[in-house]
Amino acid sequence: MYYIGIDLGTSAVKLLLMEADGKIRNIVSREYPISFPHPSWAEQNPEDWWEQTREGIRDLLRDFDRKLVGGISFGGQMHGLVVLDQEDRPIRPAILWNDSRTAEETDYLNEEIGRDFLSEHTGNIAFAGFTAPKILWMKKCEPENFARIQKIMLPKDYLAYRMTGVHATDLSDASGTLLLDVEHQTWSEEMLAICGIREWMLPRLHKSYDCIGRLRPDIAEELELPFEVKVAAGAGDNAASAIATGTVGEGRCNLSLGTSGTLFISSDHFCRDASNALHSFCDASGRYHLMGCMLSAASCNKWWMEEILEESDYAAGQKRIEKTRLGENTVFYLPYLMGERSPLNDPYARACFVGMTMDTRQADLTQAVLEGVAFACRDMLEVARRQGMIIDRSRLVGGGTRSFLWQKILANVLGIRLDLLETEEGPSLGAAMLAAVACGEYPSPGEAARAIVKVKKTIEPEADLAAKYQRQYEKFSRLYPALKESFRRLAG
Ligand code: XUL
Repeated sequence: MYYIGIDLGTSAVKLLLMEADGKIRNIVSREYPISFPHPSWAEQNPEDWWEQTREGIRDLLRDFDRKLVGGISFGGQMHGLVVLDQEDRPIRPAILWNDSRTAEETDYLNEEIGRDFLSEHTGNIAFAGFTAPKILWMKKCEPENFARIQKIMLPKDYLAYRMTGVHATDLSDASGTLLLDVEHQTWSEEMLAICGIREWMLPRLHKSYDCIGRLRPDIAEELELPFEVKVAAGAGDNAASAIATGTVGEGRCNLSLGTSGTLFISSDHFCRDASNALHSFCDASGRYHLMGCMLSAASCNKWWMEEILEESDYAAGQKRIEKTRLGENTVFYLPYLMGERSPLNDPYARACFVGMTMDTRQADLTQAVLEGVAFACRDMLEVARRQGMIIDRSRLVGGGTRSFLWQKILANVLGIRLDLLETEEGPSLGAAMLAAVACGEYPSPGEAARAIVKVKKTIEPEADLAAKYQRQYEKFSRLYPALKESFRRLAG
């Protein structure tokens, strides 16, 4: 049998065709536009997602026997607000996870409703990208649209709705709305009241590997797929990726360095850190996780190499870094090009180099960028460690980590072993695995991961270098607190 995993990303939808044993048979991706109608706004048209997904399924299956498709599932950009009217048509473009128009609503929730109240009822505090502040923004700024809302959905759930006619979501994605009582896995009545919405407007909650329905007959016919194809709820992109990297079970960790950087720590129990610096969400295996999301990770390196040095050969730039300088750089880089989410929750934070002298060379700055991102990852890890979590190894995935030098820096800054995987597919593979579980190929996502995910290589920290980086991290840790007020003043 074949299983289709659909990752609804921010710039493109990626579709993956997997055989039951985990072998990947085909991958296609199709782009769609993103619009920025005002500074700090980010919107997309849900119709574009659906159009490109439909075309993508055709491309994906062109050379394969469609009759063998057993199930479909999703991974998707989280936190986006999709609102539907009485005819289930989008009322306005979707407001995305990286849209930060909701500074006032976020402050209202954190300051007036209060962090303690939010944390008690949802397990989390408000962040500008989350869904609940977007609903409050719409209520205030677009009351006519708000009055027409019949259904509130997350991005990937709109695709599932178009395929099945069912309004459903899964617990991992629902966790990022700030409307879910994450610990008890139910919608929070208190949060719905604060946002002025009713429970019937929200999709039904499912586990990620639950079958939510079958393809609508007209869609099955149009895509020439069997009517019996099962559609599983799927997961938020990071939770889906955790299945694809085998990050299931107590204290398993995955570090993903894409445009943004996420640290995902799975847990058998609900847990939350005292300051809510990490998100406390449900995972895709029926359990929980803590997650930190830093907004600029590999994008810092891309910005430095391409925008500043105008150099497309990253490896050549990194070759100039002398190995003896590792752990001894006198220049530090703070990686907050877009403000920071985890663990600082500070939209005013900014990137900077600190510590340059007349003998500073370009290679020191390149090294500082790689190290600064690693130190910021360590900041997230330290929050989890303060909760008593013991993390001595992690998976490492994402385009940013193809550089051997960066892998070495990360292993030594974090002081843990880093496992590189044979297959580097994230949410789309995780989604296909969830579809396979929904169809009974595996008893659980954990079993699917154990059978499919294989470690290719492990990067070990080196005692001397890790000790040097420990001292460097202590210096780095003092910089943001010293600059925090200045960042606010710079933002006016
Ligand atoms: C997670 C988050 C991002 C988006 C991007 O909290 O905001 O990972 O899901 O895809």
